[in-house]
Amino acid sequence: MSTKWWKDSIGYQIYIRSFKDSNNDGIGDIKGITNKLDYLHFLGINLIWICPFYKSPMDDNGYDVSDFFSVSEDYGTLEDMKELLNEAHKRGIKVIIDLILNQTSDEHWWFKEAKKSKNNPYHDYYIWKDPRYINVDGKRIRKEPTNWASFFGGSCWEYVEEVDQYYMKIFSKKMPDLNYENSRVIDEFVKIIDFWCSFGVDGFRLDAIAHLAKSEFRDSLIEADGEYKPDWSKFSNLDKVHTYLKEFNRRVFSKYDLLLVGEVGGNATVKDALLYTLPSRRELNMVFNFDHNWCNNKWEKAPDEKMRIKVLDLKKIFNKWETGLQGARSWNALYWLNHDQPRVASHYADMQYFEKSTKVLALVLYFMWGTPFIYNGEEIGMTNPTFKSIDDFKDVSVKNCYQIEVVENKKDSKKFIEDVSYSTRDNARTIMQWDDSENGGFSICKPWNIICDNYKEINVEREMYDKKSLLNFYRKIIKIRLESEYKNIIRDGIYEQIESEDENLYIYIRKLKIQSKKNNTLIVIGNLTDKVVDFKIDSILTNIDLNNTKIVLSNYDRRAIPEQLKEYEGIVLATRL
Ligand code: GLC
Ligand code: CA
Repeated sequence: MSTKWWKDSIGYQIYIRSFKDSNNDGIGDIKGITNKLDYLHFLGINLIWICPFYKSPMDDNGYDVSDFFSVSEDYGTLEDMKELLNEAHKRGIKVIIDLILNQTSDEHWWFKEAKKSKNNPYHDYYIWKDPRYINVDGKRIRKEPTNWASFFGGSCWEYVEEVDQYYMKIFSKKMPDLNYENSRVIDEFVKIIDFWCSFGVDGFRLDAIAHLAKSEFRDSLIEADGEYKPDWSKFSNLDKVHTYLKEFNRRVFSKYDLLLVGEVGGNATVKDALLYTLPSRRELNMVFNFDHNWCNNKWEKAPDEKMRIKVLDLKKIFNKWETGLQGARSWNALYWLNHDQPRVASHYADMQYFEKSTKVLALVLYFMWGTPFIYNGEEIGMTNPTFKSIDDFKDVSVKNCYQIEVVENKKDSKKFIEDVSYSTRDNARTIMQWDDSENGGFSICKPWNIICDNYKEINVEREMYDKKSLLNFYRKIIKIRLESEYKNIIRDGIYEQIESEDENLYIYIRKLKIQSKKNNTLIVIGNLTDKVVDFKIDSILTNIDLNNTKIVLSNYDRRAIPEQLKEYEGIVLATRL
C-alpha cells in the first residue's frame, strides 16, 4: 500500500486577508500569496491551506459565501487562483482550500429566493421554523422556535417577515444554515466540489463540518444565564453528519486524490474523531479538535501572576489524541492555533523567555505523529496585539457581543474591551509582519486591519538573517521532518509518553519497530516551565546506550546530553531502543 501524500505534508495556513497585499488596496489577496511562495518554499512547507477567497459580503471575512464558483473582488480572479495553483505546484507545494458546507451568505441567490415565499423552490435549502407564541400580560408575543444560542451571540434564529418564519443561523444572521435534509443541497455541493477539484486544488479543510446535522428542535434544558442557551450538542457531531460525508465521498471526493481535514469543534471526543477519520469509513482523513486550545491559567491567575501552561493538562490532552488515533490506525492533525484562536506566542509562551519558550513549543508539538499545520506568523513568533478601541476589532462575533452587552445592556466599554481582548479571534488576524517598514511590508496603503506594535522586532526579514531566530528553528524542524534520516520515525513511529506525571517536562518517544542497526527512536523532551529541572535520561530509559545517542535538535545548542534542563529547554535525541 502506498503512503498517502498528506502523511508527508507540512501544512501552512494562510489568512488571505492579512497575508500580503499585491495591488495596494490594503487587503491581502491571491497574488500576494503567489508572490510569497518563494518564502514558503524557503520555510520548507509543502502544503498550504488558504482561508476563504470566494465571493462574499465579508460579514465573517469570507465564511459567508455568496457565490462558490467565483473569487471575491477583494482577492482577485479565477485566473489568479489558477496561477497560484500552478506556481505552488511547481514548487512542490499542494494547496487545499476552505469548503464551507454549513451555511451560505444571506446574499447568496439561493437565500434571496428562499426568503421570498414558502413555495419557492429554494425555500427548503435552508432551515425554517414557525414562530412560537406566548402570552405575556394578555399580549401575544412572538418567540424563536427554540431557546438555542448562536456561536456569535444572541439566538440561533432570525425572523423573516415575508414568510412569517425563522431561519436557523448558528453563526451570524448573515449566515443562514443549509438544510441537509434536502438532497438538492447535497447535489449543489457535489457540483461545487467537483468544480474545485477539476480546477486543481489538492483538497479541502471542511469548515464547521460538525454542525451539518441538527437535532430535533426542542428547547435546551441546560442551565445557563440568559435567554439563549449555548447548548452546542444540539447541532454538533450528530450521526447524520456521517451520512452526508459518506455521500459526498461516494459521489465526488473519491474520484480525486485529496486531503480532507475537518473542523470538528469543541465537544468532539476521540471516539467522534475516529468516526470521521477511520480509513475504512471513507469520510475524512483527519480532523482539527480544539481540546488543547485553552490549557493555561489565564482565567484563574491573580493579576500579578505569570501566564503559565497547565503542563499536566496539556500533556494529558495531547496524549489522549495521539494514542487514541494512532492505536486505531487513523491520523492526527497537529496545530497550535488557527484564525480563531489567540497567538500561541501570547497564549502559551513566556514573555520573559520569549525565544526559548516559543521554540520549545514548536519542538514538543511538531515531532508528534500527524500532519502539522503552522499558522501564518506563528513561525516568526507573532503575538496578540493591544486593542486600543472598539474600532480595532473586526470580528463580527465581537461586534455582535458589543451591541448586546455595551449598547443594549450598558456594560462599560473599556471593561468590554478588556474582557474580550484575550480571547478574541482578532488576535490571530492582524496583518503579517514581513519587515520593519511601514505597515510591516504588508502593503504601502493603510491596511484593513491593525498591525502589532512589535513588528519592527518580530518580522520575517529580520529573522531570515538571524541564525538563532524562531523562523530558522521552524525551518530546522521542517527539514528534519521531511528530509532527514529520521523522517520515517516521525511519520510512522509509535508515540509513547513517558514520565506522564512530571509537572515540568513533557517527554515522549517516537519509535519504529524495525530490525536494523540504525537508530529507530526519537526522544523528545521539553521543559515547559521557567524552572531549571534535573534530568537524567538514562534513569528514565534504563536501556538507553548513551554512546550511541545523538542530539538531533536543541534550543540551547547543546553539544552533549545535558543532566539538567534550563528554562524552557527542549531537546530531541535519536537512539536505538
Ligand atoms: C469556523 C471558522 C470560523 C468561522 C465559522 C463559520 O469555525 O474557522 O472562522 O467563523 O466556522 O464558518
Ligand atoms: Ca489587495
